[in-house]
Amino acid sequence: MHHDLVIRGGTVIDGRGVPAFRADIAVDSGHIVAVGALEDAAGEREVDASGLIVAPGFIDVHTHDDRALLDGDMAAKASQGVTTVVAGNCGVSLAPFRPDGRPPPPMDLLGGEGDYRFPTFASYLEALDARCPVVNGLFLVGHQTLRVQHVEDLERPADATEIAAMRAGVEQAMQAGAVGVSTGLFYPPSRAAPTDEVVALAEAAAPWGGLYATHMRDEGTYLEESVAESLEIGRRAGVAVVLSHHKASGVANHGKTARSLPMVEAAAAEQQVSLDVYPYAMSSTVLLPDRLAESTRVLVTWSAPYPEVAGRDLSDIAAEHGVSDEEMALRLLPAGAIYFAMSEDDVQRVLRFPHAMIGSDGLPHDPRPHPRLWGTFPRVLGHYSRTLGLMPLEEAVRRMTSLPADRFGLDGRGVIEAGAVADLCLFDPETVIDRASFENPMTPADGIHVVFVAGEAVWEDGATTGARPGRALRRARPIPAR
Ligand code: ZN
Ligand code: CU
Repeated sequence: MHHDLVIRGGTVIDGRGVPAFRADIAVDSGHIVAVGALEDAAGEREVDASGLIVAPGFIDVHTHDDRALLDGDMAAKASQGVTTVVAGNCGVSLAPFRPDGRPPPPMDLLGGEGDYRFPTFASYLEALDARCPVVNGLFLVGHQTLRVQHVEDLERPADATEIAAMRAGVEQAMQAGAVGVSTGLFYPPSRAAPTDEVVALAEAAAPWGGLYATHMRDEGTYLEESVAESLEIGRRAGVAVVLSHHKASGVANHGKTARSLPMVEAAAAEQQVSLDVYPYAMSSTVLLPDRLAESTRVLVTWSAPYPEVAGRDLSDIAAEHGVSDEEMALRLLPAGAIYFAMSEDDVQRVLRFPHAMIGSDGLPHDPRPHPRLWGTFPRVLGHYSRTLGLMPLEEAVRRMTSLPADRFGLDGRGVIEAGAVADLCLFDPETVIDRASFENPMTPADGIHVVFVAGEAVWEDGATTGARPGRALRRARPIPAR
């Protein structure tokens, strides 16, 4: 038999968590057509995978790649074996939004003036269709994106008219193919939104089988209350829940994931709830001068008025200027930062949690990004699975593939079997490791050999190939709420 692509002699980890096995893989027209001993098969292209793991391409469930998919080469993700990203997280989606001038923080995570340019969710997806991204994208519509446009005074709850306008935005996005709605209740533009406002928005996604993904109101002092609120929103609106980048933030709150995870586990018997995590004890977002006290160290990732300070400690910059850290933070705005505010014990406890998916939360437009942007997936495989033995390699791969495919309705992805889309990652299990550090955050990982999207190589020999076989994915089926 002649095929477009034959991958020979690899060890297959099929994504379901079952033990690895030896098999060849044949691909035609972007799909896997055979898995097994394929001695008689010949390929237009043949790849020798001996000594390598052949896994489904990884699904990065928590990203801010809305604009990077359009404008970027996605090397940060392709280099890790990621073939699908979920964007529109933390309440921040690039569409629908076309502001005059600079968008307010944290909307500026995705770009500055002129970068938000899509008046409708459908027009954004169509632009992606026309551009063809390097990897696939699946999209949430953001509550903050809708709130900054429709709520007159962000310091108060939305009134009935404003809620109706935001619900119409959710409905249009769902109609266009969004997978659900996200919030970032922690951030100033949505802090004043009460639970009822969010339920109203999530309800608007429910008839389409959309899900609710949330950067919760509080990930520190009120972690458990915030988990309870998120679960309540899912139950009342009748939608599945994804808790974003689960963590316990602030020295006083270390250890609290030992209480939040059992809440999630107990709720999972009644409703569909999952969470994602990135494998680092440091967080990163916009610079928030009123949140400095939680962290033992704050690194500046960018600053509009002081671009030269990117990559430096806030305390050092403040000392040079002879002002307090808070005052310096105010002077640097708008800006971004990395916060040293978590404990390694909590990170490992969340990583071990069986419903935990992997999401990088990388910020692709930061000039000195958190290393999670380039390092998340190889770090889980190399550091947490191989070196620390937190979980077997097959289980680590399951958290990156079939589990998120199931939770986000990506049927036909996240597994290696005949009929599945040929999104594949070939990596060396002995050498795979993240190389991105705080000093050199934009460094590709080691050990990721070839990455295929729909049977076309997008990452090979340590570089992107220039191919753009990715798709703007539309929600394929309703996500069950329980
Ligand atoms: Zn977030
Ligand atoms: Cu995020």
